[in-house]
Amino acid sequence: MAGSASDPTSGEDGSDRHKGERLQKVLARVGVGSRRTCEDLIAAGRITVDGVVAILGRRVDPETALIEVDGAPIGVRPGLVHYLLNKPTGVVTTADDPQGRPTVVGLVPDEPRVFPVGRLDADTEGLLLLTNDGELTHRLTHPSYGVEKEYVAEVQGVPTRAVLRRLREGIDLEDGPTAPARVALLDASLVRLTIHEGRNRQVRRMCEAVGHPVLRLVRTRIGPIADRSLAPGAWRPLTGDEIRALGVAVATDPGVSPQN
Ligand code: URA
Repeated sequence: MAGSASDPTSGEDGSDRHKGERLQKVLARVGVGSRRTCEDLIAAGRITVDGVVAILGRRVDPETALIEVDGAPIGVRPGLVHYLLNKPTGVVTTADDPQGRPTVVGLVPDEPRVFPVGRLDADTEGLLLLTNDGELTHRLTHPSYGVEKEYVAEVQGVPTRAVLRRLREGIDLEDGPTAPARVALLDASLVRLTIHEGRNRQVRRMCEAVGHPVLRLVRTRIGPIADRSLAPGAWRPLTGDEIRALGVAVATDPGVSPQN
């Protein structure tokens, strides 16, 4: 029973490790694995809380603790901000535009200063993260972490199954072949492409190469982050769970990720 003297998790020394939620519950909620898997990870010494290897029975305040899985943070550190913006067309993904066009940074609060995570073309719409978390930015944009980005493209013409297969298998672009992608036809000229590279104008160039130039392009998901209710031009802070889920998506070594 919580709080009873017989419960090893409810010690009376007043330390934080006896307060808050059970660690395995927090880990499971953000997608590290089932509760059982998370208990095994804790028992194996793969989880640290504020730099200290956690033991089974540990409780945490998920809003303040720095929780790491194999060295990859899933916690939210103080001072860091993370915004999700629904970028409208005509807005450029830079902090400062010499041509004076509106920028994504101008759509979110000035302080603390944040930077876009990767980029969307001026004529692309949809989800864009902005943050002052340099490590997360690096991991989300570096191809070796393989974070998925999902786009919905309205294209010219109606792609055949053979065209969809070519998009899926990889297209030879001038900067090399594209990696295999997930591709689905949602409607006659509406294609959903899920890629994990971030090459310049990649989706547009892929569609152009198969004879179906993009008429409209919207990014609908970044790893675990999606939001269909955010209006164009609107932003919101990521929730603690979303930030932790991103941390899991960019775990140190994808080969030993607890999700695999
Ligand atoms: N692919 C593109 O072609 N443009 C974007 O903005 C993002 C991905």
